[in-house]
Amino acid sequence: MNKKIVFFGGTFDPPHLEHVNMVKSVAKEISPQKIIIMPTFIPPHKKVFLPASPKQRLQFCKEAFSGINDVEISDWEIKQQGKSYSYLTMQKIKADYQDCQILFLMGTDMISTFDKWKNPLEILKVATPLLCVRRGEGISKESSIQEFKRKFNVEIQTLEYEGNELSSTDVKIEKMLLSNVSNMVGDGVNQLIDEFLVYNYGKLSQFVVENLTPKRIEHTKGVIRLALKYAKVYKVSLHQTAIASLLHDVAKYLKIEDYPDFKPPKNVPYQVMHQYLGAYVAENILGVKDRQILNAIKYHTSAKPKMSLLAKIVFTADMLEEGRTYDRAKEIRELSFKDFDKAFLLSMQRSLDYVNERGCEVYPLTEKAYNYYNQRVKGD
Ligand SMILES: [Fe+2]
Ligand SMILES: [Fe+2]
Repeated sequence: MNKKIVFFGGTFDPPHLEHVNMVKSVAKEISPQKIIIMPTFIPPHKKVFLPASPKQRLQFCKEAFSGINDVEISDWEIKQQGKSYSYLTMQKIKADYQDCQILFLMGTDMISTFDKWKNPLEILKVATPLLCVRRGEGISKESSIQEFKRKFNVEIQTLEYEGNELSSTDVKIEKMLLSNVSNMVGDGVNQLIDEFLVYNYGKLSQFVVENLTPKRIEHTKGVIRLALKYAKVYKVSLHQTAIASLLHDVAKYLKIEDYPDFKPPKNVPYQVMHQYLGAYVAENILGVKDRQILNAIKYHTSAKPKMSLLAKIVFTADMLEEGRTYDRAKEIRELSFKDFDKAFLLSMQRSLDYVNERGCEVYPLTEKAYNYYNQRVKGD
């Protein structure tokens, strides 16, 4: 079987330049007869937020991979109109190309979840994994290959090319804040995203961009990025998390006088006020109805006892996003993926220390929240 077919499946929501680089490398290093790129219909192992439609993703793929030799964009899984299972797709490809070796292109992230896919052994019966390792993942190329081989007892091929850190989620976050993403997806796909009006929250995104400074917009992206990571790990709705994080600082630079119907609680320190005004604006100006989202905005600075997990996620992400560079930020950020409640408590402590150090007024609700959660963490 000298002829080779390379299969590359995924959500491609949207396809980005690292996907393109992988496919270019396949063409150069493997010279297969054909590279089949197949967007999934509904991903069985992924929760999505701000999804583009299957038709739109198909068009993104056509645009992104155009110009690479022997690429075929297939709508087969989309046409199946059901959950896409790779083992069924691989059986179909094998039937179509019986005299060819089938190579299954995958990133290291797919390798680590491979045993959770449906019937992984069925895939390996008909296809050979073609692994592309990403730089900066903290796992060496050799160790991921060895681990996979050991687990499944199969041969595996690897690309010379090592990918860079880039994800479709990162693209969506940029687009949520209406940024140009040509440097992440290329001009063509960036243009299509704008044309299709996908990956943003319409007037919510618009309002945030119009009312925040560039620095605050970067901070907001950082909060969304980290909050979405928590949401994935701790199983909270990505959609609620994205909206609450997008809007958390919406009122940072708004003036109370401009909202005469807004009635804040009494004795709110200046630095806390924007959480209440933010929740007010989200509800009354932007039409957000979801109480959980509104409460996450409403207590993102002060915290309070008995917060929802969503609210704790937004609070913690706000304190620990990559742009935060205070003494222990990195350490607590790492802790947050192992012991979230402890990291949440330390973030609250940090917030109290900061206020104290500056000689500012401590907001009693924050102290209450700290005592409430401190007892619970100790009581564990
Ligand atoms: Fe804030
Ligand atoms: Fe913030």
